[in-house]
Amino acid sequence: MPRKVSVAAWGAALFISWNAILLLYLMSRPKGPDATDLTQHVIRLAEEAETELGKQKELLQQIHHYSGLLKNRPALPNAARGPEPPQKPANVSIPSPTPPASDPQSVVIPVVVIACDRPSVRKCLDSLLKYRPSAEQFPIIVSQDCGHAETSRVIDSYGDAISHINQPDLSEVHAPPEHRKFQGYYKISRHYRWALNQVFRVLGYKVAIIVEDDLEVAPDFYEYFQATYPLLRKDSTLWCVSAWNDNGKENLVDVNGNSILHRSDFFPGLGWLLLRELWEELEPKWPASFWDDWVRRPEQRLDRACVRPELPRTRTFGRKGVSQGQFFDQHLRFIKLNQDPVAFTKADLSYLLKENYDPWFTGQVYDAPKARAEEVMHGQVPGGRTVRVEYTTRDTFKAMARAFGVMDDLKSGVARVAYKGVVTFTHRGRRVFLAPPKDWAGYDPSWS
Ligand code: UD1
Ligand code: MN
Repeated sequence: MPRKVSVAAWGAALFISWNAILLLYLMSRPKGPDATDLTQHVIRLAEEAETELGKQKELLQQIHHYSGLLKNRPALPNAARGPEPPQKPANVSIPSPTPPASDPQSVVIPVVVIACDRPSVRKCLDSLLKYRPSAEQFPIIVSQDCGHAETSRVIDSYGDAISHINQPDLSEVHAPPEHRKFQGYYKISRHYRWALNQVFRVLGYKVAIIVEDDLEVAPDFYEYFQATYPLLRKDSTLWCVSAWNDNGKENLVDVNGNSILHRSDFFPGLGWLLLRELWEELEPKWPASFWDDWVRRPEQRLDRACVRPELPRTRTFGRKGVSQGQFFDQHLRFIKLNQDPVAFTKADLSYLLKENYDPWFTGQVYDAPKARAEEVMHGQVPGGRTVRVEYTTRDTFKAMARAFGVMDDLKSGVARVAYKGVVTFTHRGRRVFLAPPKDWAGYDPSWS
């Protein structure tokens, strides 16, 4: 704060003295002899004054820009270890020249890695470092819970390439007796709250990508987030960008469609971008456990959507985790990680804005020929690249989803990847819309 005030005060002083000098200068100019001369003279003076004002404006903008950078680009404190680190603002220094902070292509986006006791975090960090285009633009901050020494050594072995902060409260969490076996989920939730508070409140970043320690990333992971970040700023009906496709198995995606992005009402997590504003909104009511399902509830989601890719930009290798791996064996290990980088920052992504996407999407879905699931599966639907299969009840949705091999679970009534109730995937190269009737009235949170 004091730094910002002093920058502002300096700017104001500069502004006032500049005006004083200007006034003296104007008053000391020789006066013209007759009326027309005088008018012309006044006009010229006004023009000169305008030019000077323009220069002052520019100067003030520069002051603004640098004070913005100071807030934007804090240098990370050295690894905060052991007991709760004092919540002092990080040391700031004027960074090396960068494009203006208002340019979305240059915003600093830290990657926050949530770690605990798995030394295999190395795999995650290796892939993050391998594809990172700029250490300045994408600082990597590993937040470690659990105080696990071996994992801690692995993280520190990367030296200055990353920052390592430690969640200080390693006490058991208080969970109701019926939730004893879910202790892990309580700890995860506590860690998320601490880590995101560090990133947004202590370090003052405006946006961040959250990655868990059992994720590896695709070559265009950074490009994807850099390009989609402005959408989050522009469209208040978006609240996250995720690198994940819950149905991202090879046979369910358009393998030639790695540049395709979608909107999703389902919060995917697993490598996702959020703005500080969202954290400020959620933090005061952050839950004690099961944070991801809590985020998916209507009270939190408020009808907002995430952007998600056709081909996943993260992949999880975490068989051994809090949820015991059954989900991993049946499903997660088949997720396909995109390998061909897409130049998203060069593409026009405005089709993802609600006002453009919604009419287009509804047209795609409801103009597609309708067929029964069995017909599609037996290849009995002639022609066409798209087809719509309709469901009306929770049970028919689940049965059809299972038949096609897509995820059949629902959270707060929303199926994975669903947008306006529609789950889209490919089947033998054809795009399928598993869709409710056109007069659909919205999600029913009792569907689970
Ligand atoms: C699942 C979700 C995960 C979500 C979690 C909480 C998938 C594939 N994973 O976790 O995205 O965050 O439920 O609802 O859907 N961790 C700690 N402290 C602990 C234990 C774990 O910080 O005491 C960290 C881990 O390092 C990891 C994250 O929490 O980054 C999730 O833990 P993991 O063991 O991978 O559990 P999942 O079952 O995958
Ligand atoms: Mn996991």
